[in-house]
Amino acid sequence: MTAQRVCALSDLVQDEARRVEVDGVAIALVLDSSGEVHAIGDVCTHGDISLSEGFVDGESLECWAHGSAFSLRTGKPLNLPAYEPVPVFAVTVDGDDVLVDATVTLEVN
Ligand code: FES
Repeated sequence: MTAQRVCALSDLVQDEARRVEVDGVAIALVLDSSGEVHAIGDVCTHGDISLSEGFVDGESLECWAHGSAFSLRTGKPLNLPAYEPVPVFAVTVDGDDVLVDATVTLEVN
């Protein structure tokens, strides 16, 4: 599967998450304060909550339900109650197009 265009870069608001879907996979897209775009799984691993409804804090996205924050780089929760990571997907920015490959999850240690 190749990367698919999910939105325009200009559609993204810095330090806010936006929910997109690629091939039925829900993804939280975040433009961080340094201008980098991240794509992580949108469903919190603690409960069936959309992470894109949560809060961006630096390089993490916090679930509004119980406060677990997930690293935008590794997908790992930085605090309880969640303890399982969400997937991290490859993002490409091509001009004003943001592309995500939902089949590629990045392993970051
Ligand atoms: S549902 Fe996300 S931390 Fe509980």
